[in-house]
Amino acid sequence: MKVLVTGGAGYIGSHTCIQLIKHGHTPVVIDNLCNSKAVVLDRIECVTGTRPAFMQGDVRDSSFLKRVFATHAVDSVIHFAGLKAVGESVEKPLKYYDTNVSGTLNLVREMQAANINSLIFSSSATVYGEPASVPIQEDFPTAATNPYGRSKLMAEECLRDFQHANPDWSITLLRYFNPVGAHDSGLLGEDPQGTPNNLLPFVAQVAVGRREKLGVFGNDYPTPDGTGVRDYIHVVDLADGHLAALDKLAYQAGIHVFNLGTGQGHSVLDMLHAFEAVAKRPIPYEIKPRRAGDIAECYADPACAKATLGWSAKKDLQTMVEDTWRWQSKNPNGYGG
Ligand code: NAD
Ligand code: UD1
Repeated sequence: MKVLVTGGAGYIGSHTCIQLIKHGHTPVVIDNLCNSKAVVLDRIECVTGTRPAFMQGDVRDSSFLKRVFATHAVDSVIHFAGLKAVGESVEKPLKYYDTNVSGTLNLVREMQAANINSLIFSSSATVYGEPASVPIQEDFPTAATNPYGRSKLMAEECLRDFQHANPDWSITLLRYFNPVGAHDSGLLGEDPQGTPNNLLPFVAQVAVGRREKLGVFGNDYPTPDGTGVRDYIHVVDLADGHLAALDKLAYQAGIHVFNLGTGQGHSVLDMLHAFEAVAKRPIPYEIKPRRAGDIAECYADPACAKATLGWSAKKDLQTMVEDTWRWQSKNPNGYGG
């Protein structure tokens, strides 16, 4: 299949391009490079021997999208392009609604004009807000707690309404839990700009000497060691989830919703100790107050993806940490280094 990958130069998009190529698909990347670098395309080529077609531009730009669809006859679209920093979304909500909601609507409008009716959308476990219980199932109530989360939830709702009005469309909403890890070549990985918001990139930067110590946000949660518990999933497993959705559902009309997680929870201290063992060095940390908006525990019930897509996560915590460390130690300054 020829697949348009919006945000394909980003963390999850680039790993998905590699898996698409490996499985005989042809990705076409569009990205405005606001949070990624063009060198990622060199790395994809280095790993796969194939350089994806690339057009630089913005999903909010209709004339750009018209050019993309006129240039490439794609069968389906995977829509990663978006902004994802929770803190920034509180400071700049309009920027988030503009990119994550308006950008998605614009993309769908231009897909419709180009007669393409198959879409996979990057959603997030953040749409569940503070779940009443874990593991989280797809039919749990949704309730986002910040503008980023609301932008994902709004985009989901818009896509549901749109699909209802256009029943021939296939729209798959994939709710990711906590993507971590890197390609096992050490050539691709997560390259956060500025101070990392997420746990594992922060731990990796402490391990490599870019930062002094980790702040652990709270050790008084009702969890086994008092620190927050999350469902960390290897980015390549996550990428494979997109391939499974494409293979099974690209031509199956309807609105399809799946959790992409492992079903396993790990605490902040579990992650820290796993990293220390792999990097063979101590990782200094101090206990800080809880981070606003954080929840105690969040992990998926991934049974639905297994039953319908035949997909489940394969890579364990050890592999997630080893691959993160290989990427971070080979590229201490990310793609800029
Ligand atoms: P990322 O920032 O690495 O990738 C997003 C890509 O989209 C970047 O390359 C960026 O340059 C591009 N982009 C942003 N705005 C754009 C625009 N207006 N037009 C064109 N390109 C644009 O992020 P990621 O971690 O790969 O996340 C991909 C998607 O998955 C995002 O939609 C994100 O919200 C969602 N998601 C991510 C996580 C996570 O923890 N990484 C969790 C849940 C959901
Ligand atoms: C965060 C976002 C969420 C987003 C998700 C994936 C917030 C409030 N939530 O969730 O919307 O979908 O990332 O991108 O930002 N931790 C530390 N020290 C750190 C960083 C994190 O102790 O420096 C802890 C957190 O308190 C949490 C765990 O590590 O318990 C994981 O944090 P993080 O990687 O930010 O993911 P989420 O909290 O799941």
